[in-house]
Amino acid sequence: MTMSMTEKHKKLEKNVTLLAVAAFAAVTVGGLVEIAPLFWIDNTIEKVDGMRPYTPLEQAGRDIYVREGCYVCHSQMIRPFRDEVERYGHYSLAAESMYDHPFQWGSKRTGPDLARVGGRYSDEWHVQHLENPQSVVPESVMPQYGFLAESPLKVQDMAANLTALSRVGVPYTDAQIAHADADMKVQANPDADTGGLTERYGEQVNLRDFDGKPAKLTEMDALVAYLQVLGTMVDVNAAAAQEDLATEKGR
Ligand code: HEC
Repeated sequence: MTMSMTEKHKKLEKNVTLLAVAAFAAVTVGGLVEIAPLFWIDNTIEKVDGMRPYTPLEQAGRDIYVREGCYVCHSQMIRPFRDEVERYGHYSLAAESMYDHPFQWGSKRTGPDLARVGGRYSDEWHVQHLENPQSVVPESVMPQYGFLAESPLKVQDMAANLTALSRVGVPYTDAQIAHADADMKVQANPDADTGGLTERYGEQVNLRDFDGKPAKLTEMDALVAYLQVLGTMVDVNAAAAQEDLATEKGR
């Protein structure tokens, strides 16, 4: 006697072992269908013009950002929702954080999103705000980071930092790694010969004293250099138009 579909299902539902095996099989197939293709496609991120790895000074600033836990209150991911786009600018593209290790995505924000804060304020504003946020925004709950302006920027071995990043896929060239320590110092020193920094990272790189103390290289220099580059590398409207076009063509 053959069992009807309902009877088969009843049997499956009532037998815990059978149900567990069937559920496992279903999840395995579903998982493979989602995960397996990722091993065969070259890249999950659409490349966009303008993206470059951070300069050593910006990367040092980023390390300070992570060390100080700025990410606890700030995300760097503008979601494609109208309120976010109106407040922060064009929604973030995947490629814009492709060289970020660790990434700074998230939606939990005590302070505003910083994905496009670069160029929005002057260096002086950032320094004053970091030293005493309440002097700029009286009701701010952001802590004071004045000590950064007093702390000399000490990085044991910037070349080793860049090498580590290159191992996880950031395309630093041998020349960029070889000049890492010198490049880090030169970017914030307006009097120095850039020594080829712009050839290695492009003409757009911000070359100036960031913390208002040209004679000293401080952690403040690095952090402000990092904040000022956020969201400025890519011409987002052009890149997004390109992406939409690619999607329309069905790729
Ligand atoms: C306790 C939460 C908190 C922490 C930690 C924190 N911030 Fe903030 N941040 C805020 C808040 C709230 C604001 C909005 C009010 C203001 O401008 O001070 C803000 C504003 C900012 C702004 C201005 C953004 C804009 O678009 O106006 C910047 C830049 C910034 N923070 C950078 C940092 C950096 C860098 C660090 C780490 C060194 C940091 N914050 C740590 C809460 C925080």
